[in-house]
Amino acid sequence: MGQQLIEYFPLNTLMLINGSFPMPVMITKKLFNAHHEKTTPTIQLKKKIRKFYHKRHFLFKKFDEGIILDEESWYSVVPEEVASYVAERLHKRIIDQKLPINKVIDGFCGSGGLAIQLASKFNNLLCIDLDPVKLENLKTNALIYQRTIETQLNNFLLVEYEYDENTILTLCPPWGGLNYHKKEVYDLETDMSPCLSDILKKAFSISCNIVLQLPKNVSISQLTTIIQQQSQQLNFKRYSIEIEMIYINNQLSQLFVLHSKITNTFRQKNNQRISQFIKIMKQKIDRSRIPNSSQDILIVPVYADKLGFSLPAKLPYMPVSEDSIAETVFQANRICQKIRCEKSRIEESDPLETEKFYVTSSWVLFIVGVILFVLGFSYEDLKSTLTLLGTIFIVLPTLISIIVVIISITKSPKLIDLEQECTKKLGEFFEVQNQQYRKKGLQWSIGDEMLWIQLEKI
Ligand SMILES: C[S@@+](CC[C@H](N)C(=O)[O-])C[C@H]1O[C@@H](n2cnc3c(N)ncnc32)[C@H](O)[C@@H]1O
Repeated sequence: MGQQLIEYFPLNTLMLINGSFPMPVMITKKLFNAHHEKTTPTIQLKKKIRKFYHKRHFLFKKFDEGIILDEESWYSVVPEEVASYVAERLHKRIIDQKLPINKVIDGFCGSGGLAIQLASKFNNLLCIDLDPVKLENLKTNALIYQRTIETQLNNFLLVEYEYDENTILTLCPPWGGLNYHKKEVYDLETDMSPCLSDILKKAFSISCNIVLQLPKNVSISQLTTIIQQQSQQLNFKRYSIEIEMIYINNQLSQLFVLHSKITNTFRQKNNQRISQFIKIMKQKIDRSRIPNSSQDILIVPVYADKLGFSLPAKLPYMPVSEDSIAETVFQANRICQKIRCEKSRIEESDPLETEKFYVTSSWVLFIVGVILFVLGFSYEDLKSTLTLLGTIFIVLPTLISIIVVIISITKSPKLIDLEQECTKKLGEFFEVQNQQYRKKGLQWSIGDEMLWIQLEKI
């Protein structure tokens, strides 16, 4: 398996929060290595497909055991290692988040690259495709991996299922051939058929848990806009999305987009104090007037749902690059998120954990002391030593227990004031940042009640 690397991309996030309906997005990277074997194909293949033959064992490790692929599948199948990673990750999320998922539907299953790996993790899998040849190939290929998979010959846009939030849909729609990457930005509406809106309209009528495989050159803001538009018509809460960039041999190859409960960001613990903080923050935002950015000042307002700041889509002209500004905002968000995680960790941990440990250990020593004491009566020659040791083992733990009980009664629980702590740490961070920014005639500071951060000309 490739090496895991998690990164957040502030510039993409910048695009995402453009609009009145911001959606939390996390972008991660996953690296894979594909070995290419330059051998002459032993099967008849069109010239344009031959390069895919060189990575046949990356597509299917058991390729030599009789895997069958039609022309389109050669370039559209999800490689085995990537598919196995996606399936495993989904499975792990479900276990970790205790989600009662009972069905997976692969809406565009093709010759089974992803489906076969899903079948190894999920018992109830249904595979849909409108091409009968692909479904036949899928069945043959699945048998090589000792799997039998339920298939349905159908147009995904026409399938009829009752809405069920315990279903996951995996959707790898066709990207329109081999030339999708030649466009600078792949349009999810005009370049893709069926278009993403139609696919999601149908998908969201079946479930909110969606895994989408998309080309590397999509516009993230178009993607989130479509997701928002299509999910809004449904009655479920706003969910976050997670985008995983799949790199093969250090080159960005494709994206896997996860929506809703199966995303990592959804898993945040419902810490009551943090929810309370967010509520207060929202009230504050409603009451306050966050100033607008101008040519002389950039206002980065707080992002109500989480402790962080969201860059406006359009920055006023500033004598530093947008990348540097985004990086500073990103680092500022990281600082706030770190404090927030630390707060959860400390406040959710058992406050009496250490005390419990001491009291339990004392009891063990106490029992040893009693045993030594009793033994002292049986062994006349060791009586004085055993009685002395027994007394120490009895008295010492008793004293420890009494001290621990007194401490735990008098100790007040450790609480972190999020706003105060963030203000302090951000202040320190900006102090360091400003050493560079001041050289450009700019300076970062924290706005009123931490409702925004600002970069102003000095
Ligand atoms: C990118 S391929 C899927 C590859 C597959 N995930 C794999 O790993 O092998 C897209 C598939 O969608 C199928 N397809 C295209 N339009 C469809 C539709 N409207 N409904 C169902 N399947 C469709 C195509 O026949 C093709 O097999």
